[in-house]
Amino acid sequence: MSKPKVVVTRRWPEPVERRLSGLFEAELNADDRPLTQEQLKAAFSRADAVFPTVCDRIDAEVLSAEPLKARLCGNFGVGFNHIDLEAAKARGITVTNTPGVLTDATADLAMTLLLMVARRAGEGERHLRAGEWTGWRPTHMMGTQVTGKTLGLVGFGRIGRAVAHRAHHGFAMTVLFHDPEPPGPDEAARLGGHACASIEEVLERADFVSLHTPGGAATTHLVNAERLARMKPTAFLINTSRGDVIDEAALARALRERTIAGAGLDVYEAEPAVAPELLGMDNVVLLPHLGSATTETRVAMGMMVLDNAEAFFAGREPPNRVA
Ligand code: DGY
Repeated sequence: MSKPKVVVTRRWPEPVERRLSGLFEAELNADDRPLTQEQLKAAFSRADAVFPTVCDRIDAEVLSAEPLKARLCGNFGVGFNHIDLEAAKARGITVTNTPGVLTDATADLAMTLLLMVARRAGEGERHLRAGEWTGWRPTHMMGTQVTGKTLGLVGFGRIGRAVAHRAHHGFAMTVLFHDPEPPGPDEAARLGGHACASIEEVLERADFVSLHTPGGAATTHLVNAERLARMKPTAFLINTSRGDVIDEAALARALRERTIAGAGLDVYEAEPAVAPELLGMDNVVLLPHLGSATTETRVAMGMMVLDNAEAFFAGREPPNRVA
C-alpha cells in the first residue's frame, strides 16, 4: 500500500524528519522558508496531510483549496489560534496539536524573562559587551528582588501552573491567579496559588504578572491600556502566550511613561515584526518566540505530530484532536 503524502511547512529536528520520512511520503522544507498563503493552499490540494506551525495562517481561504485532498492538519505546536477550526470542520479536515510536551520549557522561559527583566540581565549584558563596564560599585545597575515577591498569573492551565510551581517552591513567591476554570482547592494549595475574582485584582496586587491564556478572538487585547493602568508602577509584565493578548502600542506607552516598571516578551502582535519603539527600550526584555525552543521539547513536539498522524491514517482516533 502506498504511504500517505504529507507536506511539512518548515524544517523539523533531524530525528523527527527521519521518522517522518519512514512513515510517510514526506515533502520536507530543506530551505526552511515560510510558505506563502498560495503555497499553503496548494499543499492542501496535493497532500493527504499538512503539518503547519504557529507561523502558518491556516485560514478559510487556505482551507477552501479545490480539489481538496488533505484530510489531516497536524499542527506542530499546542496553540491553534492560527487555524480556522470551523472552516476545517466544514471541509472534513481533522486538526491535531501537541499539548503537554512543551509545558516545562515554556514555564522555564517565563521564569527566564521574569528574572532577566527584574535583574536587568539583558541590559547588563549589552553594557558589558559594549565595553562600558567600569567595575563593581554599590549603586551599579540595581534591579528588583524576585524572591518572596507576589506573582500574578492570568490563566492557570498547564503552563500557568508550571510557572506557579517554580515561583512558589523555587522563589518563595506568593502566587495569585485568575482563570475562568480554576483548579480544585488541593491543586491550588499544592502550588501555593490563591484565586482572585478578576483579572483586575491580579493586576493590582502582583509585583510580576505573567500571561498564560490561549490566543484568539476572546483574548485579543485582554491586556489593554485600562488594564495596564491597574498594575503597580513597580510591577513587571511577562508574556509567553500569544502576542495579541497585549495591546502592544499601549504597552509601549506604559513602558515609556514608566507607569509599569518593565516587561519580558517572547511573543508579539505581528510576529516577526516588533513595535519599533520597544526595540530601543532598556526596561523590556525581548526574545524571538523561544518558549518551546529546547531540543528535547521540539523533538517531543514533532514526535507527537507523528503519533497523531499515525493513529489517524491507521483509522484510529488521534490522541490530540482539537477538531
Ligand atoms: C505553541 O506551541 O503554540 C508555541 O507558541 C510554539 O512553541
